[in-house]
Amino acid sequence: MNRLPWLVASDLDGTLLGDASAVERFRSWWRSLHPAPRLVYASGRYYASIVASVQEWKLPSPDAVVANVGSEVRLYPCGRPLEEWSHRWRTRWQLDEVRSLLDRELGLNLQPPQCQSDFKRSYTVYDADEGWLAQVRDRLREKRIAAELVYSSGRDLDVLPMGVSKGTAIEFLAQSWQIPKTHVLVAGDSGNDLSMFQQGYRGVVVANAQMELADASGPHIYHARRQFADGVIEGFEYWIKHQTSVSRVSQAKC
Ligand code: GLC
Ligand code: MG
Repeated sequence: MNRLPWLVASDLDGTLLGDASAVERFRSWWRSLHPAPRLVYASGRYYASIVASVQEWKLPSPDAVVANVGSEVRLYPCGRPLEEWSHRWRTRWQLDEVRSLLDRELGLNLQPPQCQSDFKRSYTVYDADEGWLAQVRDRLREKRIAAELVYSSGRDLDVLPMGVSKGTAIEFLAQSWQIPKTHVLVAGDSGNDLSMFQQGYRGVVVANAQMELADASGPHIYHARRQFADGVIEGFEYWIKHQTSVSRVSQAKC
C-alpha cells in the first residue's frame, strides 16, 4: 500500500480551544491515530503565548508552529525559527510606510505592544466592512506599500508583508516536508484562517466559525456540525475516511 504522509494544521483560539472537554476528546483522538500525522498549530498569537497554551491545555506536541498570522514559522519544541521562510519577504517589508499611513494618516487603534511583531502590525477596528477594507487596500496600493490586510472576528486587522499568511506559511512547510496538497488538512474558525482554505487543501470549518469563514465554500471545504475541537475531530474523520491511510514521515529536526 502506498502510505503518504499527512499534515494537520489547525488554528487554536475558537478552533481547537474554546471547550475544555472537547480538548480532552481531541487529545485522546489524536493519540488513537496510527501512525500520527505531522501537526502544526497556526495562530495569530506570538510564539511564546502559543507554547503556553499548548502546555496549559496539554495539547499534542506539534512539529512546528505558525505564529503571528504566518509571519513566523518555528520548529517545536526547540523554537528554532525557519529563516528560509522569512528571508523570502523580510527585505520587502515597509513597516515605516505602514505606520505612517495606518497609524498616523488613518489614525487606527493599535493593538497592545505584545500583539505587534517585526512583521505584523495589528489594529483594533470594530465592524469594518468590505468597502472600508477595499479603500484601505487602495490607499496601500497608491502609496506602493506591498502589504496584505487580514480581518478577523469583526475586530482584528492584521497588516502583513505581501504574500504572507497562515496559508502560505503552511504551504511552505508542506513543500519542505514534501507533503502533497491532498494530504494537508486545515481547520479554522475565523478570517485569519481563510488563506489556509485557499490553497487547495482539505479544510474543516468548525460550527462556531465567524461569518467571514462560515461563508467559505467549495469542494475541499467541510463544514462540521460540531463546535471547537469536536468539529475538528469530525472534519478530520470525514477527510481521513475520504482519503488513503494516515502515516507519519521522519521527524522535523530541531
Ligand atoms: C491574535 C493576535 C492578534 C491578531 C488576531 C487575529 O489574537 O494576538 O494580534 O490580530 O489573532 O489574527
Ligand atoms: Mg481562531
